[in-house]
Amino acid sequence: ESSTEVDIAQVQPGMAMKAVFRKQPVFIRNLTPKEIQEAEAVDVGSLRDPQTLAERTKEGKTNWLITMGVCTHLGCIPLGAGEGEVKGEYGGYFCPCHGSVYDTAARIRKGPAPTNLQVPDYEFTSDTVIKIG
Ligand code: FES
Repeated sequence: ESSTEVDIAQVQPGMAMKAVFRKQPVFIRNLTPKEIQEAEAVDVGSLRDPQTLAERTKEGKTNWLITMGVCTHLGCIPLGAGEGEVKGEYGGYFCPCHGSVYDTAARIRKGPAPTNLQVPDYEFTSDTVIKIG
């Protein structure tokens, strides 16, 4: 299937945008230093789906968190990527369907979702453009 190119130049630290890949939402988030620090401070062994922020981002670009915007419980679209949307108690995303809460690395922290938000295959084609898929 075809890939999707997204210009991320306008996404400032602390902001996010939504894209569409294979008819599903993708969240593209530029983490602040505080959000990065919060993600890195977590004891990975305590997580339901243990992954570091570094494992979920590209080397040298840990501020760019790119995930599917699809809750891994039953597929609702979590809140937190849109302006003014509630991010939940771990500062990442909140799924209003059954209360799954994701942290600033989009890792599941609370609620019924079994796994972290999925990171799609993607690459940076320049400093400001990513190609998903
Ligand atoms: Fe997200 Fe159930 S679909 S918590």
